[in-house]
Amino acid sequence: MASSAALALIATAAPTSAKPALPDQRTKPSVKIIGGAPQAVGAYPWMVSTQYRGAGSALDRHFCGGSLIAPDVVLTAAHCAVDATAGKLEVTVGRTVLSDKRQGHVRKVTEIVVHPRYAKGDEAYDLALYRLNKPVDGVAPVQLPTPDTDALLRPGAKANVIGWGNTNTRLPQSPDQLRGVSVPLLSHTECKATYKEYDKAVNVCAGRENRDSCQGDSGGPLFRKISGRTYQIGIVSYGDGCGEQGAPGVYASTSSKKLWDTLAESPQGKRMKQLLKR
Ligand code: ARG
Repeated sequence: MASSAALALIATAAPTSAKPALPDQRTKPSVKIIGGAPQAVGAYPWMVSTQYRGAGSALDRHFCGGSLIAPDVVLTAAHCAVDATAGKLEVTVGRTVLSDKRQGHVRKVTEIVVHPRYAKGDEAYDLALYRLNKPVDGVAPVQLPTPDTDALLRPGAKANVIGWGNTNTRLPQSPDQLRGVSVPLLSHTECKATYKEYDKAVNVCAGRENRDSCQGDSGGPLFRKISGRTYQIGIVSYGDGCGEQGAPGVYASTSSKKLWDTLAESPQGKRMKQLLKR
């Protein structure tokens, strides 16, 4: 679609249109999620790409990440789902290279449940669920932490975040292959220093300079591997820029009991909560 002339224009225009706040224009742009590396094919069978249905390439149709938390339920971010229509969506489960149609399982979305508090305007409750047309059998869903615990949220501990989001904050770039980066968890006090709207009851923060999630990673998982089991502790939600010093990534905290309990404030949310036994 983009002509080579247009690409050349973008390429030459880029240095001058770089954000003026960045002090050293000559610093090599990070070419990695931000600061990460490609993930092995098949490493995350429960990982989800949410896509608009249509004729374009999977790379163009991808808009957010997600995770399989039950055979027929995908967890994602509310801001990914709030303007979507179920009939126009599909998901790939367990695909690593978006363009490789042989990888993973494709499902349609039959129902979208946006967290009722997010729907009412509280952006801290950035959680949504997609019901799939058919269960994905033979794939173990990712594990969620025990509700109302913070054992996996110790500040300084390392977590991982994966996604097909932007790898370059100067000249947006979307990778075809899933990428991941290890990010340190922060204390609530530290997060609050950067984000006034941060809500420690339902959020958790992670990341440092040049290690972060970015646009297109939203809805995807922040997780830890403990004794061979993978626990999803967060959902990619927001951040001020990507990978900038003093602006960590903010995640909806999946161990928060409040996040799940308040899901029941809408009838669909209540049904989903019962279905998930959460
Ligand atoms: N809201 C972004 C998205 O829709 C994700 C932002 C994450 N930003 C960050 N710095 N961690 O993809």
